[in-house]
Formats: sequence, C-alpha cells, structure tokens
Amino acid sequence: MVKKICLLFLFIIFASSLMAKKNIYQRNCVKCHKNQAVTLDKLFYAYLLKYSSKRMVEKSLYDYLKHPSYYKTIMPKGYINRYGIKMPSKLSNKELKKAIDIYWNKYKVFGKLKIKN
Ligand code: HEC
Repeated sequence: MVKKICLLFLFIIFASSLMAKKNIYQRNCVKCHKNQAVTLDKLFYAYLLKYSSKRMVEKSLYDYLKHPSYYKTIMPKGYINRYGIKMPSKLSNKELKKAIDIYWNKYKVFGKLKIKN
C-alpha cells in the first residue's frame, strides 16, 4: 500500500514537471530577448511589414537566425553599430523551425482581426 502511494506521488511529480517544461521558443528566443530594448513582438511586426506572407516571414527569419548579417538585418544601423549582429542560432534545424512556428502562431494577426459590419 505504502509503495503504491509513493509511486503515485512520484508519478504526480513527474507529470507536473513535464507540464511546467517550457517550449523551445520560451527557452531559447524569449530567454535571451527579454533583456533587450527591442522586444520580440516589435521585431515580429517589423518582419511582417517587410515580408508580408507567412512563407516569406518564416523563410527570412530562418535564414537570418541561421546566418545573421549586417546586410539582411531589419534593425536600425545605429543599433547594430552599437551592439553588433547576433550570433547564429545554436538550435538544430528542427528546433529552429519549431521555435519560429511558435513565434508565428503567437503574433500572427491573420484570423485575429474582427470585421465589423
Ligand atoms: C543569445 C541571444 C539570442 C537568442 C537565443 C535569440 N536572439 Fe533574436 N536577436 C538577438 C539580438 C542581440 C538581436 C539584435 C541583433 C541582430 O538583429 O542581429 C536579435 C534580433 C532578432 C530579430 C531581428 C532580426 C533582424 O533582422 O535583425 C528577430 C526577428 C529575432 N531576433 C528573433 C529571434 C527568435 C525567433 C529566436 C529564437 C529562435 C531568437 N531571436 C533567439 C539575440 C538573440
């Protein structure tokens, strides 16, 4: 009986730790970006404005995060001259795609706009 209760407790602890586990976007992107002046939502809308479609936003983001460069950045030159270009992402291709996917779904505006009539 005691053994069963112990096992049950162990299971509950295990399950709740699984649920608390943050996703790859929170663990990577948000963790580093939260201390910065330009927030992830502003960057997202800057990308959306420049690249318009889901496919192009995701593609250009993926390219940039893999190979950040002075020529591709959407950041103001003043910012880059002061702080420099970021390091290439250390995530695997799959993790990076997943993180971008979460990022897109968090901030996309399509389907969230209400049309009044
Ligand atoms: C280790 C810190 C760090 C991590 C991790 C990180 N970023 Fe960044 N990111 C930066 C810094 C610093 C800049 C500004 C310099 C630059 O644009 O190169 C930046 C710039 C950006 C930009 C603007 C790109 C541009 O055109 O200049 C976007 C969008 C962005 N990050 C999204 C993400 C996403 C999505 C992730 C997760 C997959 C991520 N970042 C992970 C530090 C980080």
